[in-house]
Amino acid sequence: MVEADIPAQHVAIIMDGNGRWAQQRGKPRLFGHHAGAKRVREIVAACPSVGVKYLTVFAFSTENWKRTQTEVSGLMKLFRRYIMKESQNLMKDGVRVRFIGDRINLDEKLVGLMDELELLTADNNVVNLTIALNYGGRDEVTRAVQRLAHEVQKGRINATDVNAEVLSSFLDTHVLPDPDLVIRTSGEARISNFLLWQSAYAEYEFINTLWPDFTASEFRELVVSFGLRERRFGAVLV
Ligand code: IPE
Ligand code: IPE
Ligand code: MG
Repeated sequence: MVEADIPAQHVAIIMDGNGRWAQQRGKPRLFGHHAGAKRVREIVAACPSVGVKYLTVFAFSTENWKRTQTEVSGLMKLFRRYIMKESQNLMKDGVRVRFIGDRINLDEKLVGLMDELELLTADNNVVNLTIALNYGGRDEVTRAVQRLAHEVQKGRINATDVNAEVLSSFLDTHVLPDPDLVIRTSGEARISNFLLWQSAYAEYEFINTLWPDFTASEFRELVVSFGLRERRFGAVLV
């Protein structure tokens, strides 16, 4: 059965290649990150036309702290500025913003801006944009299991009642559907700890375009070709 008219309800993107994009131009890596951040709005704006209700973007991983202090602090500053500069546009476009990832190691000012933006956009419903910031799939599952174990210890949940649905409800993504399509730019064919649990049955697209060159038309093409894929979820289709 061909499901050409089934849209990808949730698309997740590993926005990779900013550093190489800058390097190709003889510029510092942060120049690439700034160019990359500018691409997000156009992709968010393209979502409604192809039936995408949820867009999740990987902005900073739990492993990205291993980068130089200059790059890490430049990225943190970029995130703060991005939230301050983009909030009006996000409101105008009807975008509801959520953040996933561990907030514990982020600076207070950034966390305050993240909380504010979530609150400000809470009633919007054109597109749900989730930004993964200090996010790692293993870290997320570990934090979820910690909280779940605490509930079991307190006697509020029976260990024998723990199932996939219960565990999912403790994840950062508990209000989101699983991603249907995961796109990674820049030619790397790996998932780098992104949405490990949630992507169990996601379709993947690894494309060569570097993130700052990624366009709405390329995004739309990928979403449309997703609609032509046959998803089986372990079953045999007749
Ligand atoms: C992705 O681009 C953005 C972040 C990880 C913050 P990179 O910075 O990883 O770019 P490349 O992979 O070095 O080109
Ligand atoms: C993944 O890209 C993280 C983000 C896009 C935020 P990386 O560039 O950090 O991944 P690796 O190091 O190539 O696996
Ligand atoms: Mg990279």
